[in-house]
Parts: sequence; C-alpha cells; structure tokens
Amino acid sequence: MCGIFAYLNINVSRERRYILEVLFNGLRRLEYRGYDSAGMSIDSTSNLDSDFAPPPLLFRKEGNIESLVKAVYHEVAATDLNLEESFSVHAGIAHTRWATHGEPAPRNSHPQTSDPEKEFLVLKETLVRHGFTFESETDTEVIPKLAKFIFDNMNEEGDRSLTFSQVVLEVMRHLEGAYALIFKSRHYPNELIACRRGSPLLLGVKELNEEASIGESSNDTEFLSRNGQPKELFLSSDASALVEHTKKVLMIEDGEVVHLKDGGASIFKFDHAKSEHNGKFTRPASVHRALSVLEMEVEQINKGKYEHYMQKEIHEQPESLTTTMRGRLIRGGSCKSKSVLLGGLKDHLKIIRRSRRIVFIGCGTSYNAALAARPILEELSGIPVAMEIASDLLDRQGPIYREDTTVFVSQSGETADTLRALEYALENGALCVGITNTVGSAIARNTHCGVHINAGCEIGVASTKAYTSQIVVMAMLALAIGDDTISSQARREAIIDGLFDLPRYNYATALEGALKVKEVALMHSEGILAGEMKHGPLALVDENLPIVVVATRDACFSKQQSVIQQLHARKGRLIVMCTKGDAASVCVSGSCRIIEVPQVEDCLQPLLAYHLTVLRGHNVDQPRNLAKSVTTQ
Ligand code: F6R
Repeated sequence: MCGIFAYLNINVSRERRYILEVLFNGLRRLEYRGYDSAGMSIDSTSNLDSDFAPPPLLFRKEGNIESLVKAVYHEVAATDLNLEESFSVHAGIAHTRWATHGEPAPRNSHPQTSDPEKEFLVLKETLVRHGFTFESETDTEVIPKLAKFIFDNMNEEGDRSLTFSQVVLEVMRHLEGAYALIFKSRHYPNELIACRRGSPLLLGVKELNEEASIGESSNDTEFLSRNGQPKELFLSSDASALVEHTKKVLMIEDGEVVHLKDGGASIFKFDHAKSEHNGKFTRPASVHRALSVLEMEVEQINKGKYEHYMQKEIHEQPESLTTTMRGRLIRGGSCKSKSVLLGGLKDHLKIIRRSRRIVFIGCGTSYNAALAARPILEELSGIPVAMEIASDLLDRQGPIYREDTTVFVSQSGETADTLRALEYALENGALCVGITNTVGSAIARNTHCGVHINAGCEIGVASTKAYTSQIVVMAMLALAIGDDTISSQARREAIIDGLFDLPRYNYATALEGALKVKEVALMHSEGILAGEMKHGPLALVDENLPIVVVATRDACFSKQQSVIQQLHARKGRLIVMCTKGDAASVCVSGSCRIIEVPQVEDCLQPLLAYHLTVLRGHNVDQPRNLAKSVTTQ
C-alpha cells in the first residue's frame, strides 16, 4: 500500500520549482495507491557538504496530494525559500499514504525521520532505551531511527568510511515483513538508496545526452556507473509515474539495494543468510543488471476526453478485450480450424490437464472474475474447480495438494493476501499459474507460468476493464486446457467465435455489480443467486428496496423469470437487465424498469455504480478508505 517516488538530477541544472513539480506529479500518478496523507523531503540549499549539511526540509500533510502541494507552496512563501534556486544535483523523495498503523495525520505521514529534535516493537524498545523518542504511531519510523543508531555506532569517531549502502544493508538485516524504502540523509548529500522486499519498486533512467543513450552499453546498469553524463533518475512504486519521463527502467528485485551516487547506480543483493560472517556484517558484492523498456504509453495514463478514469476504463473495454485476445485466438491450421495459443502456458498444459483440481485464488473483483469463469472451466476441462478467497484460504490453512493447479488472479499482481496464498501453494508443492495485468509484478515473477491479461493500465481504484479481461483470459485458459478433447471441439469453436458470449456467469456479475455500488457509490448492496432468494433474502423485499436483476439469455433464464415474479409479488422496485428484445418476457406486468443489453454482453454492469456515484457527488476514481494495490494483509 502507499506510493513512493524519488527524483535525482545529475550534472544538469534544475530549479527548486522544477524539482518540486516533478515530485508532485510523481505523487499524482501514484495517488491511487493511497490518498489519506502525503509528504516529501527536499534540500534547503544547493550548497551541501556532508560534514555540515543542514537537515533536509520535510513537508507532511493530511489529505490528498493537492493539499500537500498547497501546504508546500505556502510554507515556501512563508520562509522565503527561493523557488528559482538552481541545483546541479539534488535528491528529493516523496510519499502518498494509505493508513495502516496510525491515523492519517502529519506525524504519521511519510517521509519518517531520524531527526531526534523532531523527533516492530522489539527494535523500537531498544531504540527508546538508547534515547530515541518517537513521534508517530507508524512502524516505519523505526527504520530511520535505526539507520541513525547504526550510523552513530558503526561510524567510528571521525571515520567517514562507512558508506550509505552499508548503513542500509545493516538496517535491512534487522527488518522483517514486506517493504519498499527510499533513504535520503544529511550525512550523504545528493545520494539516494532504494531497497525492497515484497513491495514493488522501479528505477527509471533518463539520459539527457542523446548520443549517450544510443548503443547497447546504455542498457545495463554498468553503463550507469561508468557514465558521467547528465541524467535524471527516478524511483517509483510503479511504472505509471515513470513513463512520462522515460521508458528505460530497472525492475528492482526482492532483496536488492540500489545506491545512487555520483551519477552512477551500484546494486547489492542482500541475503539474510549470508549477511553475517563470524558475528560480523559482510557487505555483498555489487551486481550488474539489465535495464528493461516499458511497454506503456503516456496516453494510457491520461484521462483523455473522459471526466474520470473509471468512466474511461469502462469505455475502453472493447479495445482492452481485443488486446487481451490479440495473437491468442488462432483460426485455420491443418487439423483444427480454431484454437487458442497461450504462450506462457504451453509448457505446462500437460501437467494442468493431469491435475486433481484447479483452484482459483484471488480477492475482491479478481475473485469475482474467477467465479464468473468457473463454469466454462469446469465444462471444458472436466476437472473439478475450487474457489478460494486468498485471505480465507490462509486463515483456514485450507488443503492444497501437489496434484493441484492453483491459479492466482490479480490485476496488480501485488495484493498481499494473494501473494501470501501463492507462497503457501508453493510450499505445498502445487503448480502455480499467475493471471495478472502487471508485467514484472510479484505474482507474475513468483508463479511457475502464467498469462498477462494485457488490459492496459487501470488507474481507477475500482477495477472495471481488468475484470472483463480476466474473464476472457480464464475462458481462453479453459479452451487451451480442453484443446485435446475431440468431443468438445464444436463447442470450443463456438466459444472462440463469440468469445464474449460466455454463458452462466450472472451470479458473478451480480456480485461484482454489488461490489462496485458499495465501493464507489457508498451504498450497501448485495449480489444474490436467483435460487437463493427464497432461502432468506426475500424477507427484505418491499416497495422501498431497489433490486437489479440480471436476466440475460442463458441456462438460468427461466429461473430468473420466476424470481422476477416472486419479487413483483412483494412489490420490489425492479430494474431488469435483459437481452435485447426480451423486455416483454422478463417483465410481464410492465412495472419494472428495463435495461436491454446486447446478447451476453457483460461489460456494462460497472456503469450503474459509476452513474450512481457521480449523481451522489462522490469521488469515483478514489473512493474513501480504499487503495488500488492492497499490499497489507
Ligand atoms: C474492487 C477492486 C478490488 C481488487 C482487490 C484485488 O473494484 O478493485 O476488490 O480486485 O483488491 O486486487 P488485485 O486484483 O490487484 O489483486
């Protein structure tokens, strides 16, 4: 949860105003990761000397990014800080928060500081015993205090040989759990350290000398270390904050420490097991890594002609679904006329076909998408399909066997519950398949094989286009698994012909529609199976209860018709979504509102939540109390 961003300009002059704006824009791009408070740290002067460097300036504000922007400019004006002051090198860091430990308040916002003037339990107690005072309720505050403690104790008197990365590596030795951290210190001016474990972090590299960027050597971090060219470096929780500056990135890996200094980047691989030798801390050797090129365009992260990201993403579905299927549906060929090719799975299909069960694991919308795809998977694979909400599987320590194929569905690829469930399935020896929208995400990297849904960047906190692309990918998975069964070939071809014509997933549609209404319109709503109405929920129905019935043409159509009658009889306020031309057969008494949709078109249900939200005046892209990637358990 939360988003971090840093900017370091090297050998190129940048004014304070420019530096602030780059940091603000980085935070705006990451705002969907959390938006209850934000903060940043920049230098007070360009004249830094490691011996006498003044402490960096710290700004922290409750509320969204724009509240921070206003507060910073207000303070800059009040303290006569010169916005035009130029820095040939400057390291700035910024953070947007989704509260976990401690309420949204400036003291709990980040950056957290080691500064005793302003100033994980065991660590905290030790630090308190050594005279540190804590001002926030966040566990993060332990980290800078620990770094200061290590710096003071390891740096023998007058000896400045201890490097910034040595301090951070020593800090990491004491940390448990998931984190992505950026360190800035008055003792190491114009340097930054980034490290991560479990949470995502990327380094973006923008070379400002065109010639230097040509040639293969520029695609390796070794080049970064050798080269004294002007450049800008960015650190970010995700690619959406980098793509407007550069497409050249280093996906920082788990346990890596990236030290940005003197125009170069040194990378160390931290290994808990090897970090201590004879009771002494040993520094790992630096490693070189290849840079990758982002496959993302700036237009993907702009709202374009739309008012909200959610609205844009709902309308993008015809295009995103086409991209999801591109190159994967094959027509023609010698023995089969139509088939599915999922490159990421081809070496594992035989094992999947031999599985005892297929277990879908996910949270929220991703779980609903899997639920929607279950019938087609059962039908085409003939393998029993089990459904697991990731946190519930972990709470129960539910059975997962070596003979299982577990499928992890996650838009972000970073959801903590889903990731922990993946670790659990790996420990139990199951084959693990990832279905994510994020190339290089933890789930994509840690599963044995998988499929990217290619829905494009989804920025609205409420998932929309990713949901439909996930369903299509899982339908393609069903087709690929069933591809060796001659008896179902005609059925598979029919599905390929009209891939959106996926039958029997109206329950998932109702669950997902209800989730969206709760999440963005802030109204309670529930998704209920037609067959379950008479087992309890009918008691709630009267003339005050609005009910949306999804009664499109599928195998459950007659059941839906009868439930509509039951609801009519109890005077429920009915809105019926039916297939075009079916209005008369679903609403015989004529007293319900009808929304006709094209045959089995399932892309429309989020629109209801979208319009309800806009009418009720709520923020549709950033519903309260939520964040896009839920990286806490
Ligand atoms: C709801 C929504 C969430 C996510 C859930 C899992 O609109 O977006 O319910 O689906 O937090 O996230 P991912 O798919 O990233 O694992």
